[in-house]
Amino acid sequence: MEPRSTRAEWAKQFAAKARDYWTDARTREVTGDKDLQLLPGEASVLLRALGLLHRDASMPPTQVRKYLQINHMVGVLAPAIADLRARHPVIRLIDAGCGRSYLTLLIAWCARERWHHRIEVLGVDRNPDVIEECRRRTELAELDDVVRFAATTLDTLDPGAAWRENFAGGGPVHGVFALHACDTATCDAITLGVMLEAELIAVAPCCHAELARGWAAVADRGEEGAFAPVWRSPHLRRESAVHVTDALRTVLMRAEGYDVTAMEFISSEHTKKNTLLRAMKRRSKDPSVLAEYDALVAATGGCGLRLAARLGATREPAARSSL
Ligand SMILES: C[S@@+](CC[C@H](N)C(=O)[O-])C[C@H]1O[C@@H](n2cnc3c(N)ncnc32)[C@H](O)[C@@H]1O
Repeated sequence: MEPRSTRAEWAKQFAAKARDYWTDARTREVTGDKDLQLLPGEASVLLRALGLLHRDASMPPTQVRKYLQINHMVGVLAPAIADLRARHPVIRLIDAGCGRSYLTLLIAWCARERWHHRIEVLGVDRNPDVIEECRRRTELAELDDVVRFAATTLDTLDPGAAWRENFAGGGPVHGVFALHACDTATCDAITLGVMLEAELIAVAPCCHAELARGWAAVADRGEEGAFAPVWRSPHLRRESAVHVTDALRTVLMRAEGYDVTAMEFISSEHTKKNTLLRAMKRRSKDPSVLAEYDALVAATGGCGLRLAARLGATREPAARSSL
């Protein structure tokens, strides 16, 4: 990586080039009438660091979808983050399964440039090559003072140690996000959020193999039941598992004291994986809600999520003291 002064000079020159390039007409071509959190003429250095702008500051048509997707995600999360900002002078967030750090850097950028609020964001991904790329992007975007990364799986992350290693001091983690973390990594992110007693958990699930696998086994055993037509059809069980899995996750988070909203966060023309589960911790735990979980599991074939047992384990005092 080049010295900071060289990067700062590059950033200044690129920002000037982008301001000239992104006329109102060009901006409207990409954003339509949408009121987006970050515009290409204003956030050009960040967008270049994320690979969403060319060297000449134009946006390749193939990157427009990602640009709109991350904008929408921040737009949807902004009110919940505003809630955190109102309560905490520094907000600490984890981006679980951060991939190439689109959302991670975007939130940090918004905190600095839009919300003028102190933030610390830890991006976590199991892929060390991806994390190396994240660090490179973060330095280029000049956000390395507030965004750090850990190359590890979510279920082995030690958040306390990661914070001490990467940021001066530590403190409570207020929010855990996971945008399209694969399969049960979404459940790992929920577990992490619940263990940390994060006030906000926001997950946009990706593939949903766990339940579909369970139903396939039920079909193989030749079991009969009202849901049998779904168990027997690979396509229908994959599609149905998407919504049943998310419904089960919703109930489990409610039992942990969260108010949960399941919503479409971006139009399905951009991605089919467009459900966001947004959970805000509002109450103490209410295990009586688990009756709804049991009823839904029983009605759909008796296959639950491993998440249920893992959240049950977090209710044990020993799990909390290890954080
Ligand atoms: C589809 S990508 C999404 C990346 C990013 N959140 C985004 O939306 O651009 C999923 C990422 O989750 C990471 N991942 C999957 N399972 C994980 C786990 N158990 N622990 C940590 N990272 C995981 C993968 O390495 C991958 O980078």
